[in-house]
Amino acid sequence: DWNMPDFMEEAIGRIRSEVGTDEVILGLSGGVDSSVAAALIHRAIGKQLTCVFVDNGLLRLNEAGQVMDTFSRSLGVKVIHVDASEDFLDHLQGVADPEQKRRIIGREFVEVFQREAAKIANARWLAQGTIYPDVIESAGGKTKKAHTIKSHHNVGGLPDTLHLKLLEPLRELFKDEVRELGLTLGLSHDMVYRHPFPGPGLGVRILGEVKYEYAELLRHADAIFIEELRTSGWYEKTSQAFAVFLPVKSVGVMGDGRTYEYVVALRAVKTEDFMTAHWVELPYTLLARISNRIVNEVRGINRVVYDISGKPPATIEWE
Ligand code: XMP
Repeated sequence: DWNMPDFMEEAIGRIRSEVGTDEVILGLSGGVDSSVAAALIHRAIGKQLTCVFVDNGLLRLNEAGQVMDTFSRSLGVKVIHVDASEDFLDHLQGVADPEQKRRIIGREFVEVFQREAAKIANARWLAQGTIYPDVIESAGGKTKKAHTIKSHHNVGGLPDTLHLKLLEPLRELFKDEVRELGLTLGLSHDMVYRHPFPGPGLGVRILGEVKYEYAELLRHADAIFIEELRTSGWYEKTSQAFAVFLPVKSVGVMGDGRTYEYVVALRAVKTEDFMTAHWVELPYTLLARISNRIVNEVRGINRVVYDISGKPPATIEWE
């Protein structure tokens, strides 16, 4: 009879005996897996763990603040917060192709992370939130079609130039077990049940060229959408939901004036495995409230559309 508190204690013991007095570094993304890994390893070895959180300028509203609140202030985890947003946005300038954007964001992340990791003189271990389905996937047991359609860049996949040993304490766990472990470690329900967020972040939700101005508009529209889903109880009933920025302008009216502003699309899907997905039948009253709030509160957006495409043939992300 296996239970999570026992698993947690065993995992803590294993981490302690493996790591000894070495230093460990971990790339914290704010996602469920790296967050649970960080909380577990911190419980085991405390200040021997240093997390690196990279702000790539493509995060959601207040995301960096939330990660720092949870890990640095509440849990007392050592977290280096690197604001690399200008670097990322500079490198993305003029680039419109989705795959090229992914490559640039992935490469830039590795550079920033390695630069920070090199400063931690005694680091011997690289910790990652690899979970069991990732292990199966990279062993080639399953060929996931998504990977041939879009190249995925996660925090993992760092090249071996740091010469660090890998510490992957979640390797045996499925997603639901990772969530349970997160709760057992005292992480909040909201953190542990967050929708997935792609590694390239808003970079693939701003169609075409990424600009700071677009990212700001999208962050605000997306925050309104998610807030309304949470307060209406629809967040838990969807698997993934987000806003997408369309860099086209359309005409609108506001007061006695004409506007000529950008469009956002809302996407909300229900899925078991993210390989296929249905769009969610959100109530019209909810959609109306979200749309009204976005056009009233986000100066620069005057039109909101709802994505009614399934996967296939559409993908969940727009890029
Ligand atoms: P698609 O758009 O392929 O998305 O239907 C399926 C799931 O994968 C996520 N996704 C990504 N995750 N890096 C990631 O870490 C990526 O480049 C990437 N592209 C898509 C997407 O958010 C959805 O959950």
